[in-house]
Amino acid sequence: MDALITLLPGDGIGPEVAQSGKNVLARIGQQFGHNFTFSEQYIGGSAIDHCNDPLPSNTISSCKESDAVILGAVGGPKWDNPNAKIRPEQGLLGLRAVLKVFANIRPVQIIPSLSNASPLKEELLKDIDLLVIRELTGGIYFGKKERTKESASDLCIYQKYEIERIIRIAANLAKARKNKLCSVDKANVLETSRLWRDVTTNLLANEFPNTNVEHLLVDAAAMYLISRPADFDVIVTENMFGDILTDEASMLAGSMGMLPSASIGDEKVGLYEPIHGSAPDIAGKGIANPCGMIGSIALLLRHSLNLEEEAKLVEDAIYNTIENGARTADLTKKQNKALSTVEMTQKIIDNLEF
Ligand code: IPM
Ligand code: MG
Repeated sequence: MDALITLLPGDGIGPEVAQSGKNVLARIGQQFGHNFTFSEQYIGGSAIDHCNDPLPSNTISSCKESDAVILGAVGGPKWDNPNAKIRPEQGLLGLRAVLKVFANIRPVQIIPSLSNASPLKEELLKDIDLLVIRELTGGIYFGKKERTKESASDLCIYQKYEIERIIRIAANLAKARKNKLCSVDKANVLETSRLWRDVTTNLLANEFPNTNVEHLLVDAAAMYLISRPADFDVIVTENMFGDILTDEASMLAGSMGMLPSASIGDEKVGLYEPIHGSAPDIAGKGIANPCGMIGSIALLLRHSLNLEEEAKLVEDAIYNTIENGARTADLTKKQNKALSTVEMTQKIIDNLEF
């Protein structure tokens, strides 16, 4: 297979983990005879520095021409001035919008030997296998923003079709699993959530009558993610709730650094990024955990290139590497035994069992 991949390293630890992802993909390509071509482009803070634009037009055109996009992370203290008109995050949000990737898939799986890296008791972590589907191109992130000296507002708006299409994706993904869908909203307070709940209830009754559905308020969902995480199968929710709940859910897996994500829509190009941020505190030290990025490569192989065997190999390699005891600094108390990003990546590549 020939595939063109746009690589957007971004800021902070982004370039370090993006290199890991690229190396894993290149190794898979070499073994299976796939021809992966990479086009590296600027996004976020590094794009502001080089082009005075967090999402330069060259980046947009390269992404649109590609089969898939890999993104490291954006943001950092250098561009954090609260009064700045342009911010790195605008690059990422703009890219999600232009690629129309409205469905963000964030799987949370627990590798058994990491249970001591999680702040939760081991017995709570057994049998966790959940998938969070976060609506990614609507809601408060994209509504009109206003600011005066004395007040500020962010409009949260959802259209019926935006809710229907994300619920369909979530229900179809649930069907291939335990067929249990939990829709999270704040319908006791927010009008957008009342629309969300109505549309969800109707659509599921009409199109997915056999799906086991639960509606939870976001505050309760946040609690149950800690008190009974193994009860969840697929969680679907709006943009901001999904952002918050997936950071929370990452603690079940032991570290933010473990979680991958795939963002897809109705068009060809998918966007693949770990859920973690640019981690400025450890940037440049070469100690970032590459697992979230490499897991995102597995999702890219599966969702954008339809290469299930290759995807599974990458996931198994991550699993086996961790089970064999390899740890980056975020996963262990024994800091003197922690592996660097490059060493961890190499171990995962060595564990690809062709
Ligand atoms: C994420 C991140 C982004 C978001 C930031 C960097 C804009 O937190 O992908 O979860 O809020 O969507
Ligand atoms: Mg986030």
